[in-house]
Order: sequence, then structure tokens, then C-alpha cells
Amino acid sequence: MKQDLLGLKDLSADEIKNILETAKSMKMVLMSPSKKTPHLQGKTVVTLFYENSTRTRLSFELAAKYMSANAANISASGSSVAKGETLIDTAQTIDAMGTDILVMRHDMSGAPHLIAPLVNASVVNAGDGMNEHPTQALLDMFTMLEKKGSIEGLKVAIVGDITHSRVVRSNIYGLTKLGAEVTVGGPSTLMPQGIEQMGVKVFNTVHEAIVGADVVMGLRIQLERQKKGLFPSIREYYRFFGIDETRLKFAKPGALLMHPGPVNRGVEFSSSVIDGPQSVINEQVTNGVAVRMAVMYLLSRGGFK
Ligand code: CP
Repeated sequence: MKQDLLGLKDLSADEIKNILETAKSMKMVLMSPSKKTPHLQGKTVVTLFYENSTRTRLSFELAAKYMSANAANISASGSSVAKGETLIDTAQTIDAMGTDILVMRHDMSGAPHLIAPLVNASVVNAGDGMNEHPTQALLDMFTMLEKKGSIEGLKVAIVGDITHSRVVRSNIYGLTKLGAEVTVGGPSTLMPQGIEQMGVKVFNTVHEAIVGADVVMGLRIQLERQKKGLFPSIREYYRFFGIDETRLKFAKPGALLMHPGPVNRGVEFSSSVIDGPQSVINEQVTNGVAVRMAVMYLLSRGGFK
């Protein structure tokens, strides 16, 4: 039976560890001169994106090509979706062309969960509304593992627009399953009620959230998902929650500075910390390719167990 990757909520700690372990071998392929393996020879990967993307879409496509798969992209704006075709009909049309792995991003939470039982292809969630972005969290965890040696016992502070972030939800599921201590910080208007029930500590000042952290992760302010002003202005947000060199000193010396991207310079972070020695933002991007190679390879072999 085929397996999908819809979210980290559904995966066990062992399954997550298996993906991260496989990604180590994939990173070696990625760093080799040829960047080519036959792991997905004869397989077809299609990315279907209903929202904009630079990192996720390109890294899935490159990951598929590095593993010798046939890879194709389709976006809603350039497809028959613009003529009124439904999501289900679009997904089943792509499936009928012999697709083995369907990578999809949609603005509706639960869209990949709707499609997965209706197609033969393995579905990979590349971000669904405000729900989950599992491969982003996997690449974040892979980066922490690579830099800090272990996830267990790490103190990870996530600061920003918590309410609208699918990245934070996937990271909380993954990091807590692997034994990290997670704190979230941000304005109370961008903090969902009941988030403590996911096993995190909540703070409304950036200082309290990041003090003593091994990892400081910023999240983008998602203006496109906010129907009304949830803070006075971008300038006010930066003044109270933006992270610069002075605020970063509250974290442990040598703490990692992470961001899923795209970063708004001068909003979530100052340019000095983005381009500074603690930033691993570009390494996260590289690791995204390795992790997506691992996910697709394991799915082609039947799953993550
Ligand atoms: N982090 C992330 O999902 O970036 P993109 O929107 O560029 O894919």
C-alpha cells in the first residue's frame, strides 16, 4: 500500500529519525561532484502548487532530478484550474498520467488530506494553509542535528507570527517527538489560543522566549493570511519583536539563527544577523534538497518505517 507525507502529526519519532538518517546519505550525494543517483529511476514526480514558492518547489524538482526521476511542475495560474477545474479533478488528471509522487501546496488546510485517498500517487504536503509544512520542519531538524549533534534536550525558541504559520506547527510536532524543549514568542494577537496544549511554553516578549535558547527561529509575518491589522505597523513589530545582534545575545553563545524563508529584512531579523556568523539560513536551503530526496526515496520504497 502506498504511503503519503501529510504532516509530522502522523509520524512516529522512529519514522522521523529514519528520514533524518536517510537525509545524511542524500546530503553526501548532493555534495558529490556528479549530484546524481539512480534512486528514483523510472519514477515520475509532479509538483502542483496553488501558492507561490521559491525554495520548496525548486528543491523538490532538483531533488527528483538528482535521483534520476522524471520531474514536472504545474502551477494553478498556468493550468486548467484557471478555467474552473476543481482540485480533485486536477489531481486525478495528473495521477492518470502515471505520476508516482504528487507534491502539492494549497492555501486550504487539509487539501492534501482530501486528495491522498483519491489518487494512486504518494502525496507529499508542501504546505497546506495554516496547518503543516512537514518537509520544512524536517529540514529544520536536520540542520539542528547537523550543527548541534542531537535534538533531544535542545531548547528551541520560535518567534513571530505563530497563528498563521504552518512551519511552527510541523516543527512543534517534530521537535517535541524528538525530545526538544520548544518555546514560542510573539504578539498576543499573533498567538493562537491553546497552543500550550501542543507541549510548548508561550511568551509575549522576545527576551523571555529566546533567553538561554540553543536555536532561535524567526517566522515570517504572513500579511497575506491576515484579514485585519493584528499589530500597529511593521516598524512597531520590529521594535518589539525583531531580532538584532543585541537581542540575539539573550540566547546561548553560538545559538543557531534560523528562518524558513522568505525573510523580510528589517522585520523579523536585522540584516546584520541574517548575514552574521550565527545564521544557518542558507544551509537550511541546501539541507532542504537532501531531506526532500530522502522523503521521496523512502516513499518510493513504501514508507518511512
Ligand atoms: N520556506 C518555504 O516554504 O519557502 P517557499 O515559500 O519559497 O517555498
